[in-house]
Amino acid sequence: MNLKKLISLDETQTEDCASSLSEKLKSDDVLGLIGEIGAGKTVFSRGLSKGLALPKEYSVTSPTFTLMNIYPCTIPIFHFDLYRLENIEDFSSLGIDDYKYQGAIFLIEWANKFGDQISRDLDIHIFHKSEDSREITIEAISQRGIDILNEWEYDV
Ligand SMILES: Nc1ncnc2c1ncn2[C@@H]1O[C@H](COP(=O)(O)OP(=O)(O)OP(=O)(O)O)[C@@H](O)[C@H]1O
Ligand SMILES: [Mg+2]
Repeated sequence: MNLKKLISLDETQTEDCASSLSEKLKSDDVLGLIGEIGAGKTVFSRGLSKGLALPKEYSVTSPTFTLMNIYPCTIPIFHFDLYRLENIEDFSSLGIDDYKYQGAIFLIEWANKFGDQISRDLDIHIFHKSEDSREITIEAISQRGIDILNEWEYDV
């Protein structure tokens, strides 16, 4: 399977969906989060972090200015936001390659900003349908992404 589509009717449903998906993730998995401002990319990231037992004292917010947040979950999460990045070189200079193979999961808001230059396993597309409803499409990009979707059973 390489595509899974669902509707979320409120913030909690988006968090629960992400939290469920988190159970299938392993270190070095890369997830792109794609959608307009306010779509719910950070809400999804929060749910995913909760699913991986982020301690309560940490908050999950868009790393718009810091570019990256690190969350000490059961598998650490590196949370990026490329919104303000001007070019891909700036992203490389953040040292994503240095972070790879350190046992973390990557969540990248605006991952498609530079086309396919940042390779991902799954892209989470969040489409803002109405005030509280969102269409969430989870697209497998790599073979690993297909494997994750095949393992994941989720119904809202
Ligand atoms: N079904 C839903 N799923 C997710 N968020 C929802 C939903 N319904 C309403 N919301 C609201 O939409 C907003 C989503 O904000 P969020 O910060 O996650 O967006 P974002 O995509 O990360 O935006 P940005 O590009 O600015 O970082 C929140 O205020 C949240 O409460
Ligand atoms: Mg955000």
